[in-house]
Amino acid sequence: MSAHHPGLPIRIELLDRKRHDRVGFSCGVSALDAYLQRQAAQDMEKRAAVVYVAVMESPAIAGYYTLSQFSIELVRLPETVAKKLARYPVVSATLLGRLAVSSVWKGQRLGETLLFDALRRSLAQSAHIASAGVVVDAKDKQAAAFYQRYGFSSILDADHRLFLPMMAIQQMF
Ligand SMILES: CC(C)(COP(=O)(O)OP(=O)(O)OC[C@H]1O[C@@H](n2cnc3c(N)ncnc32)[C@H](O)[C@@H]1OP(=O)(O)O)[C@@H](O)C(=O)NCCC(=O)NCCS
Repeated sequence: MSAHHPGLPIRIELLDRKRHDRVGFSCGVSALDAYLQRQAAQDMEKRAAVVYVAVMESPAIAGYYTLSQFSIELVRLPETVAKKLARYPVVSATLLGRLAVSSVWKGQRLGETLLFDALRRSLAQSAHIASAGVVVDAKDKQAAAFYQRYGFSSILDADHRLFLPMMAIQQMF
């Protein structure tokens, strides 16, 4: 699997309120647009999340995702996943809190490119600060289906929250 679409000259960089046009971003899900417009930069400043943006033609934002540290109770993971992890009641994880692609760029593999970038980054980071896997919060069933294509499995008792073990991510790259 390739992380970058050969036809798309994208850069993925840290959100910078001075350089990126947050207001012009529209992905069709108002909560995800509003987050980028009103909260993302503040979350970065307050260390709640790191926000990465995909840029084709500056200052427009073609897509974005967020990463934070997270933890999850082992009992919430499917048994097939949990049995391969260390037997602690709570395991550390990386949260892919939000991921969205601008309506302009939908269907051109940018979602996949952003997802792979987030997974690669999470894997690299886990060599320094351990993380047993990536948790993703999908906004609905349709979005959850996108993540299931890449091997994410549902977490018990959580609406559209999914998990992919770091060992599986390591095998992807
Ligand atoms: C979901 C989203 C990120 C997909 O981005 P995208 O750039 O359009 O998707 P891609 O072109 O990278 O698609 C990669 C593959 O996933 C499939 N796919 C895309 N969206 C899908 C969905 N909702 N369900 C199932 N599969 C999906 C594509 O058909 C493609 O499949 P293929 O390999 O057979 O060609 C994008 O549509 C989006 O931003 N939606 C609104 C916000 C959202 O739902 N975010 C996710 C939850 S927070």
